[in-house]
Amino acid sequence: LENGTLSIIVLGASGDLAKKKTFPALFHLFKQGFLNPNEVHIFGYARTKISDDELRSRIRGYLIQGASSKDLEGVTKFLQLIKYVSGSYDGEEGFRQLDKEIAVHEDSKNSADGSSRRLFYLALPPSVYPSVCGMIKNYCMNNSDHGGWTRIVVEKPFGKDLESAEKLSNQIGELFDESQIYRIDHYLGKELVQNLLVLRFANRFFLPLWNRDNIENVQIVFREDFGTEGRGGYFDEYGIIRDIIQNHLLQVLCLVAMEKPVSLKPEHIRDEKVKVLQSVLPINDDEVVLGQYDGYTDDPTVPDHSNTPTFSTVVLRIHNERWEGVPFILKAGKALNSRKAEIRVQFKDVPGDIFRCKKQGRNEFVIRLQPSEAMYMKLTVKQPGLEMSTVQSELDLSYGQRYQGVAIPEAYERLILDTIKGDQQHFVRRDELKAAWEIFTPLLHRIDNGELNPLPYKPGSRGPEAADALLEKAGYVQTHGYIWIPPTL
Ligand code: BG6
Repeated sequence: LENGTLSIIVLGASGDLAKKKTFPALFHLFKQGFLNPNEVHIFGYARTKISDDELRSRIRGYLIQGASSKDLEGVTKFLQLIKYVSGSYDGEEGFRQLDKEIAVHEDSKNSADGSSRRLFYLALPPSVYPSVCGMIKNYCMNNSDHGGWTRIVVEKPFGKDLESAEKLSNQIGELFDESQIYRIDHYLGKELVQNLLVLRFANRFFLPLWNRDNIENVQIVFREDFGTEGRGGYFDEYGIIRDIIQNHLLQVLCLVAMEKPVSLKPEHIRDEKVKVLQSVLPINDDEVVLGQYDGYTDDPTVPDHSNTPTFSTVVLRIHNERWEGVPFILKAGKALNSRKAEIRVQFKDVPGDIFRCKKQGRNEFVIRLQPSEAMYMKLTVKQPGLEMSTVQSELDLSYGQRYQGVAIPEAYERLILDTIKGDQQHFVRRDELKAAWEIFTPLLHRIDNGELNPLPYKPGSRGPEAADALLEKAGYVQTHGYIWIPPTL
């Protein structure tokens, strides 16, 4: 990491995202020594008029969860680094004040070499991105003669469809260079998502098999066992496709399906992601199932006749030499029977099977993103014992067992560290975002216009039955009588 003053400014400091994710991630970085208290100053900015201490006490509760007494000391030290500035998101006064406060530290004797690094984290609704970016550009840029930078971190939703996303990109693009803009998709910060590149390109096992000749279908699944929980108002405007599929699951798809990048340089990797997105064919209506859980509209912030899906299965088809004919089944749902996210790669049947007594289960390679990170390969083995019969088993790499005592960092922690380092590999580039919206916009418009309607499903279920039927139609074959049981420690 470079030296010199680092100012991290969290805009929307009293909002949910900041309290639940941004500040805790900063705290973890601090605890591990990545934020040197002699160089780092953290600012919270929001409209509410509160004191530094009030902000600190609001954040504190989220930092001390599960903390040891040693951590508690750390919490207090960390909170001392935070100052609060209040102001509006579209008036210059607040931003001039913010600039002044930042500059105080940059000019102080503590500042080692006079360089200034300013990281603006917009934990805000996208409606205010353009005005906030304009204010930062006008009043808060680093203009130290001694080097440094100004960077902007933004969160999804980046628009609601292709047109609004492009508009937003243009507005921000007029103010900042692409190299200064960090679009967070926190799935890219997850341990096993980051592992995909290594798995795919550093293992001889996978290289020759990873294509249409061997793979029958790929599923990328996100399930939550709770509903919209107080976020109904936000959620209803977006729905599950914009909330999860168009970003989180599609990003995972890119890493599963892309060609080998020329090198590990962020631009090389992102080039390949864009290519694969551009190869996705228009979505076929017969390959979409939408659902909405019973009781969703009971939330007072959700309109009674909402057409918003809380569940969806969508089959994507990639038109290229590697993947022609292989369905990529993306599935996401709220209020389902379990909470997990996984990638399931199902291989084709073995040709000329000689174990005729029963149908062999298919090989599957499963990457469990969460909870209990793991990857396992389902394979057929001889049933141990005197008889010659076969059974499905697995080669299992469960992180909890294999990497005991290794703490897996939170996605946000890792991503914020990348923004400080200036590494954009795990962030969404503008053309990538555009290609992602191109895939889903026609479908989303038809849902918004009420042309496609969600099927009801019971909270705590697997979602609408039609989704399982679609899965089967797409060629997925379930191995009955086999379940993977995560090892206990
Ligand atoms: C967010 C969505 O981006 O991701 C939420 O807006 C969802 O609706 C969350 O709950 C899931 O993240 P994770 O890391 O818990 O899987």
